[in-house]
Amino acid sequence: MDQVNQLKKAVGDKAAEFVESGMTLGLGSGSTVYYFLKKLAEFVKDGMKIQGVPTSFQTAAWAKKFGIPLTHLASGKRVDLAVDGADEIDPHFNLIKGGGGCLLREKIVAANAKCLIIIADETKQVATLGKFGLPVEVVPFGSEIIADYIRDLGGTAKMRTLENGDPFVSDNGNYLFDCDFGLIDDPGQLHNELKSLVGVVETGLFIQMTDTILIGKENEVKVLK
Ligand code: 5RP
Repeated sequence: MDQVNQLKKAVGDKAAEFVESGMTLGLGSGSTVYYFLKKLAEFVKDGMKIQGVPTSFQTAAWAKKFGIPLTHLASGKRVDLAVDGADEIDPHFNLIKGGGGCLLREKIVAANAKCLIIIADETKQVATLGKFGLPVEVVPFGSEIIADYIRDLGGTAKMRTLENGDPFVSDNGNYLFDCDFGLIDDPGQLHNELKSLVGVVETGLFIQMTDTILIGKENEVKVLK
């Protein structure tokens, strides 16, 4: 296993230490969450009773393969703990997410969770968000003009495509634009401006939604609170 994957595994294992029997868990998406799921699977095998709400088809598939019981969001109930990865993390606990295209379900689950733990290797830490292209999920209808509206805010907007050139379609049947606004001085304001555009479903800016960030750094896990 290379060093980055060792760090991903270390933070995935560490996040599992926060899990208690009886919890309903939000299961994030991505290669770091994969290691968290593998650790959870060991707990389930040992008899721990937990249920997971997956934030993507891929996570649901991994969880099923690993024998982790799944459930869905239900009225009047909250997820006890959500664990997810990130593409960029700033010092104010703001994030860019959605590199894997799962930002909408990830944000719905995060907003419903009593606690959100973010797990990442040190390469995800930045002083200011914005080097990683900001994913913005839009409805397919009129997506070309929605991209124009996004550009009018001062950024670029490139439709995410598959290798064959077809549009990438999210688990919700929507398109994604990867946007470049340069370094983002005020992520909250940019998020609000993007959300006000008709046709924009959600942005990959997660503004101070997390309580705890676990960073894998030089063979140790740093806990940021
Ligand atoms: C998917 C996400 C992921 O959490 C993010 O892309 C990080 O993924 P990885 O752990 O593979 O680096 O937001 O939509």
